[in-house]
Amino acid sequence: MLISLDDAVARLNQGDLVALPTETVYGLAGLALQAITVRKIFELKGRPSTNPLIVHVNDLSEAENLAKLNDLSKRVCEIFWPGPLTIVLPKKDLIPLEVTAGNQTVALRAPNHPIFREILHRLKQPLAAPSANPSNRTSPTTATHIAELFGDMAPPTVDGGACTVGLESTVLDLTNNKPTILRPGMITRNDLQLALGEEVLLGPHIIQRINKVGQTAGDQSPGMSDCHYAPKTPLFLHAGTKELLESAQLSRKDLIIVCTAEERNVIEQKDFSCLALSISGSEREIARNLYSVLIQADKKKRRRLHLVFSHSPKGLNRAVLDRLTKAAVQSNIQI
Ligand code: TXA
Ligand code: MG
Repeated sequence: MLISLDDAVARLNQGDLVALPTETVYGLAGLALQAITVRKIFELKGRPSTNPLIVHVNDLSEAENLAKLNDLSKRVCEIFWPGPLTIVLPKKDLIPLEVTAGNQTVALRAPNHPIFREILHRLKQPLAAPSANPSNRTSPTTATHIAELFGDMAPPTVDGGACTVGLESTVLDLTNNKPTILRPGMITRNDLQLALGEEVLLGPHIIQRINKVGQTAGDQSPGMSDCHYAPKTPLFLHAGTKELLESAQLSRKDLIIVCTAEERNVIEQKDFSCLALSISGSEREIARNLYSVLIQADKKKRRRLHLVFSHSPKGLNRAVLDRLTKAAVQSNIQI
């Protein structure tokens, strides 16, 4: 159900959940300072209570009520907020432990979407908002995706159009003296290093380096339990079209996804069904369309999805590959 901004404010004030647009992906929002509401978020998503939520604020001064900021964290907020950057900081007492999964740190972000910002402004309190998808599934980048992903359980949604970034925010841990990226996103390591003038580390979980072991065909392949951001149809990753076309795994019942319209033409000439992530192959366009194409591909109910991605994990492509390797049941990409 689509609702107005006024209705969303009223529902949130009552402790209900609503889905709201941000520039990255749609979020499933509820009052961050109300433990009861926060529990509803975990319940609706089917999210393990060990996985903490991001708290959304409008600006640095609101962040200061919720977390302990040092000079570096203030500088980061001044440069990158509002925008697709989440920072992890030592929490203050106001933040319930339900939000942080029992941790003494909290993740904060000021989203850059006029609807989300207006709602925060009117509520005068922070919103917890994970991506508005059932746990481990592809994140929504349009209001329609939310209805498709949740079915009857879909939360009331404010339609803010398609998300312009299309991938979740970069998560930067600032709790010790070495800034560390926990989740790559549109704000890249290079962006952060240039702006801050210091080294930024990549966290240990960025891009699963171990190639996932292949599973036999079937929807409920055991490998799916390790997947995040995942379509329902098993997803296989390939480093090039040549390798894919020679692969014994490929059948006419499968759907192929490539990066550019040109690559799609080549595949279609060989009589395979194919979708392209972009027209041009630009990294921004690929990132913006990634989840939307995965959701579209899922709806076709093919046996398997094969995605060909030949770019190296640099810049924004690092974030795309991070999500893809986590979504896939098998990856033949060497990173
Ligand atoms: O772009 C985004 O960040 C979207 C929009 C809605 O703002 N939100 C989002 O939330 O992606 P979610 O819950 O899907 O992802 C939150 C990420 C998880 O990887 C979680 O582990 C990490 O942030 N996180 C949250 N709190 C943390 C903490 N205290 N320490 C370390 N990581 C944390
Ligand atoms: Mg998520």
